Amino acid sequence: MAAKGSEAPTVRLSNGLEMPVLGLGTYRSRGEECVQAVRWALGEGYRLIDTSLAYWNEPEVARGIEESGVPRDQVFITSKLENDDHGYDSTQAAIERTLSNLRTDYLDLYLIHWPVSDLRADTWRAMEELYRQGKAKAIGVSNYTIRHLREMKDYAEVTPAVNQCEFHPFLYQRELLDYCTAKGIQFECYSPLAKASRLDDPTLNEIGHAHERTAAQVMLRWETQLGCVAIPKSVHREWIAENLSIFDFELSAEEMERISVLDEDRHLDWDPRSVE
Ligand SMILES: NC(=O)c1ccc[n+]([C@@H]2O[C@H](COP(=O)([O-])OP(=O)(O)OC[C@H]3O[C@@H](n4cnc5c(N)ncnc54)[C@H](OP(=O)(O)O)[C@@H]3O)[C@@H](O)[C@H]2O)c1
Repeated sequence: MAAKGSEAPTVRLSNGLEMPVLGLGTYRSRGEECVQAVRWALGEGYRLIDTSLAYWNEPEVARGIEESGVPRDQVFITSKLENDDHGYDSTQAAIERTLSNLRTDYLDLYLIHWPVSDLRADTWRAMEELYRQGKAKAIGVSNYTIRHLREMKDYAEVTPAVNQCEFHPFLYQRELLDYCTAKGIQFECYSPLAKASRLDDPTLNEIGHAHERTAAQVMLRWETQLGCVAIPKSVHREWIAENLSIFDFELSAEEMERISVLDEDRHLDWDPRSVE
């Protein structure tokens, strides 16, 4: 199927894999609504879909991809290992359930969803094995702080390709982003729209007005201009299209800075900083 809009640019991960810089989030997308959102997104030009075993929608994501007509090898699929599945053997078993749900024999990116205490090293060794077996073309982590990443030096043979964390203008994790960038770990923002909770922010709207864009588009442009991958979630066709339409304008250095100072260091999701 030809994409209606244009596709997002890609970034090259540390292992050479190309990853689109904008994708569709699917947390809380369920049933037919999820199938439809994935189909619409791929029709618009999205080529990255983010899911997790914990979202209970992997089969619907698979149907959306199949019904879109976009070939599997043109879609970058991310899924995640759940907290209850940590440990060497459990990780090996968990990816089989995800692959079966998604009706595919590989993931483009498999992430550890959360830095579960005590089991991180065993789990990562299993992730490395899945990577070597080709069941995941890239492996990474999610919700890892600098401390969790530093600790990986003690046990990791493969550096995580991606760290997916909550990140938006009201939670500008600059130090974490800089650390990941310096280590060659691609930073990926979840809740990039701050869960639609601050779309009325005057600064975002003023900057949006100057570019004839919405506050949502300004947030996504700020994140991708910082070098991040962003995965906004929507089940509305017009918003799915709107969120992809951010690659034909540019924020000035001054506008970037005005958005950066909106930071309130406020997590809308769980804060992993207290995880030992
Ligand atoms: N790794 C993790 O621990 C983790 C945690 C949270 C999320 N994630 C991933 O990140 C994705 C995105 O994060 P999120 O779902 O928390 O929040 P988000 O993408 O920041 O915000 C989603 C909300 O914004 C609304 N929205 C989307 N586009 C809009 C637009 N252009 N104008 C107005 N409203 C708009 C959506 O509405 P509708 O849905 O009603 O259209 C939805 O209510 C998730 O879906 C998931 O894939 C990962």
